[in-house]
Amino acid sequence: MKHIFLYGPPGTGKSTIGKIVADNLKLPFIDLDRVIESNAGKAIPEIMEAQGESAFRDLESSALKNLVNEKSSVVALGGGALLREENKHFAQANGKVLLLMAELNTLLERLQNKPNQRPLLAGDLEAKLTSLLEKRKAHYESFPLSINVDNKTAEKNALKAQVKLGRHHLSAMGEYDAIVGDLSNLPNLQNAIIVTDENIAKHHAKTIGDLKIKTIVVPAGEEHKNLETVHHLWKSFLENGLDRKSTVIALGGGVIGDVTGFVASTYMRGIDWIAVPTTLLSMVDASLGGKTGFDLPEGKNLIGAFHPPKLVLADVQFLNTLPERELISGMAEVVKHGIISDPELFELCNNGLDWVKDNLEEIVKRAMAVKIKVIEDDPFEKNIRAKLNLGHTVGHAVELVSKFNLRHGESIAIGMVVEAKYSAKVGLASRSVVEAIESTLKKLNLPIQIPDAMPREEIIKAMKVDKKKNAKSIRFALPVEIGKVELKDVTDLEDVL
Ligand SMILES: NC(=O)c1ccc[n+]([C@@H]2O[C@H](COP(=O)([O-])OP(=O)(O)OC[C@H]3O[C@@H](n4cnc5c(N)ncnc54)[C@H](O)[C@@H]3O)[C@@H](O)[C@H]2O)c1
Repeated sequence: MKHIFLYGPPGTGKSTIGKIVADNLKLPFIDLDRVIESNAGKAIPEIMEAQGESAFRDLESSALKNLVNEKSSVVALGGGALLREENKHFAQANGKVLLLMAELNTLLERLQNKPNQRPLLAGDLEAKLTSLLEKRKAHYESFPLSINVDNKTAEKNALKAQVKLGRHHLSAMGEYDAIVGDLSNLPNLQNAIIVTDENIAKHHAKTIGDLKIKTIVVPAGEEHKNLETVHHLWKSFLENGLDRKSTVIALGGGVIGDVTGFVASTYMRGIDWIAVPTTLLSMVDASLGGKTGFDLPEGKNLIGAFHPPKLVLADVQFLNTLPERELISGMAEVVKHGIISDPELFELCNNGLDWVKDNLEEIVKRAMAVKIKVIEDDPFEKNIRAKLNLGHTVGHAVELVSKFNLRHGESIAIGMVVEAKYSAKVGLASRSVVEAIESTLKKLNLPIQIPDAMPREEIIKAMKVDKKKNAKSIRFALPVEIGKVELKDVTDLEDVL
């Protein structure tokens, strides 16, 4: 994708929102109407009056097509800029078009403040605008990506636009983009190498082959997130002539991302890497935040480094081959993100597994945005990043005691329910919050109870050795309502179970 085009009826705030989006994404901003005016040496009302609408549309078409020479930008278009079929094709072939829509009243309110700027609406504003919207209804509805901008600040709308587009720029602990999109978003790289695992190599041989980049395939699974794989990768990088300017692409789930990111952090004192996550869990969680590392026989993730990638590129097509159990497991983190700060995402999860499978792109975009917001606010987990531990204090312990027979997400689902019940017990959450969490997880085929045979005292023991412990108490992230969690230090762990 090259440009981001913001389009929609006059008065939807394309320029105002466009500037904020551009600023957030560290991209140039182009207002096409201003380009037309500067090319013509006069204001749009004058062009319209002197030459008529058709001549204006010609100028608009040529200004649009000249964007082919510009580097990636956020472009605010005029309200009718894509009426011509050729212009619509051009925009869709050269980027993504996001439609901004609003109620008539919102538009009227905004346009009344700026009279005389829009010749097509001169005179009876309400009648003209109503007729224009009616005439263009089918046209506007033909754009698949759209957001509604009513009743929100420009900043909120800009964020909404970014979530819909799947475009973010992180400035915490390094500068990098996080994009939901296909592999054409990969930059041209010199001397790059792909690291992937055997399952992805098997399912996606053609996609990987098309990239024409040398590929190292390692065995799949958590048991290979170890020093042996790290050593093997260090040596393979050397054998393949990787130098300080090389880039490594980690194409895989959280295991490949963690271990490849770690190897990149240490090889020649640190080289660039790009995360191309292929599991739901890695798209919405593991690939974001810069934590890399590997396991020791003594425990998971004991060795690691903060080394953020240069780009996170989540292509949801990869999820088509993901085993169902892995997809469901990843959904536990999505539900968690909904509970932390996105009630609408939580509601979407409540539609159940079949709906989720048909709407993975939307799920990934929304869940990714939650994690990005949290790590931007607290990159080194000084305080609020601990919110991401919701369900994890109990969940990690359950995962460990199950000897990893329960998948990570399955354990987190159980952990979220146990912690929500505790939150209700201590008066932080209402019973309805617990019920909502239980019911949503059940609709996703996730477990909600600690297995009967699992000894409670072993879970408590495991919680105590969890790395998030501090001297006297353990810090829990407890749900208060859907969209809000609070951190609480707990001393009596028996009480939690
Ligand atoms: N760095 C972080 O912040 C962070 C956060 C959360 C979890 N993690 C780590 O992530 C790891 C778990 O990640 P995961 O759940 O992605 O596991 P994973 O990487 O082991 O992948 C799960 C399984 O799915 C297979 N697979 C991956 N993508 C596939 C695809 N598109 N099609 C078919 N099969 C595919 C893999 O080969 C593997 O067998 C853990 O090691 C955990 O510690 C890291």
